[in-house]
Amino acid sequence: MKTWWKEAVGYQIVPQTFCDSNGDGIGDLRGIVQKLDVLQELGVDLLWLGPIFRSPMADDGYDVSDYRSVNPLLGTMEDLQELIRQVHARGMRIILDLVLNHTSDQHPWFQKARKDRSAPEHDYYLWQKGRIGAHGEPLPPTNWASFFSDSAWCYNEATDEYFLKIFSDKMPDLNWSNPALRQEMKAIARFWLDQGIDGFRIDAAAHLAKKRDWQDSPLPPDAQGWVPDWSQFSNLPELFGYLDELKREVFDQGDWVMIGEVGGGASVQTALNYVDEQSGALNMVFTMDHCWANGIHASQLSLSHQARIDVVALKKTFAHWIEGMSERAWLPVYWLNHDHPRVVSQYGDPHRYHRESATMLEQTLLLMRGTPFLYNGEEIGMTNDEQAQLEDFHDVWVKNMMASLRGRVDDAALLDHFRRTSRDNARSPMQWSDQPYAGFSTVPPKRRVNPNYIRINVQAQRQDPHSIWRHVQRTLALRKDPAWRDLFVYGSFQLVEAEHPQLFAYCRRDERREVWVISNFTAQPASIRLPQCSLRCLLANYPDSDPHPGDNLLRPYESLAVLIGAKEKQQ
Ligand code: NOJ
Repeated sequence: MKTWWKEAVGYQIVPQTFCDSNGDGIGDLRGIVQKLDVLQELGVDLLWLGPIFRSPMADDGYDVSDYRSVNPLLGTMEDLQELIRQVHARGMRIILDLVLNHTSDQHPWFQKARKDRSAPEHDYYLWQKGRIGAHGEPLPPTNWASFFSDSAWCYNEATDEYFLKIFSDKMPDLNWSNPALRQEMKAIARFWLDQGIDGFRIDAAAHLAKKRDWQDSPLPPDAQGWVPDWSQFSNLPELFGYLDELKREVFDQGDWVMIGEVGGGASVQTALNYVDEQSGALNMVFTMDHCWANGIHASQLSLSHQARIDVVALKKTFAHWIEGMSERAWLPVYWLNHDHPRVVSQYGDPHRYHRESATMLEQTLLLMRGTPFLYNGEEIGMTNDEQAQLEDFHDVWVKNMMASLRGRVDDAALLDHFRRTSRDNARSPMQWSDQPYAGFSTVPPKRRVNPNYIRINVQAQRQDPHSIWRHVQRTLALRKDPAWRDLFVYGSFQLVEAEHPQLFAYCRRDERREVWVISNFTAQPASIRLPQCSLRCLLANYPDSDPHPGDNLLRPYESLAVLIGAKEKQQ
């Protein structure tokens, strides 16, 4: 089935680091309005805004304290309405981040819940009594770890209970088995859809249901003694009932797009339970299997670690998902979001081959099957901040990890690890120009600006026909060209030379045509044999690429899109 959201190109914006219109060092909704023309010129048309509801910002807005108001740091309801109007006036669409799994501990529901066991809101959250250990020490109800270090439980003195919090102490999990809570959340979803937005990205969608027998996990513990067993609160059967209810009573009432975050560990089969076109409650899910294919995250704290991309594993991961979804569902494809380091630092070479590797990565992504999502700054090849110091890291995940490791691991190793892996890398202010503060703000921003903005910025790249920004623009123009759109959106996808250790190559095919996208993921030349037939180069990230039948040698990070065969020529 053809739909607008399959044909769209997504672009994720983190409002607080995108553009500061009122000179307070924090990006805001009016700032986004100011940049819509540039985004339109680039060719993206489905904006996903990171969380904009009122929040104490313990986790960059994923800790919501009021679901019905705009965070005053970012603007007002009128600003949002203006943004929606301006987006729609340009033929673009906009979706908001909806956090259903947890609230902030500052939310009035939790404030009441934590004081009074008889308050109705107490049962909006998940409480259990603690246990006593072998030596009389107090223990949480289970041995589960949380995603952000430490136990998944936090003690609440007023009621002498623990509440579940699978992310941070400041983000208590909601009890979706309570019908009154579900009513509240459905009303909140409707409230925002009534403002005229085009859908939601649903945060942590996989975790709404928990195993409610509250048993210890038998899996081995981590260094702190907690067990990172996500199966206790991921993809559980009750969750699909909750999502179906949302679909029946809310999502089915309009032509919106609903995209769930379904994280690592979910199989294709599990993902289909969310997005099967016949039976799923959602339209797409973000999966993460491809995100750490250079092993950099697992490398943990080894200073000597040299990350190496396993190109074969990376492309097979994409293929596994794209092929697994192709008959019955649809996939968003992306390199990174606000939870990952910058992609050019991760899979490219930000120094010697910055332009080549960034354009190669974008060409590879943007011609794949699925709805591509760019992350703000990716279009200019923004990089990790290689000069950040320990005190520059703000992210709650980093801070928790730092607290648990400091003293046991030396600071140099910690710093090296966070510079390569931390979420702060993707959360530095957007680099608009070489003006002070990268043109993001007129005052010192709350988040550190990556000093390479002098070299890497939107203004310079828009003026340079060979820049990354221009190449992204060209690639999107090709994807959206009416002559090619059906092939690049709906055409089939198959790897070419799947075992080639350097090349990520795939074939897009419709009834009439076949295009090969061939990318060299390395700084060494890579060879490929092209078919003995007429070829036409549709796009390349080197100015003088000339693919020909027979053996071809791709230069460092070179990427080609080649029409194979003469058929198209006869059109
Ligand atoms: C997933 C979001 O992408 C991440 O940034 C956040 O910290 C967690 N969910 C908790 O909301």
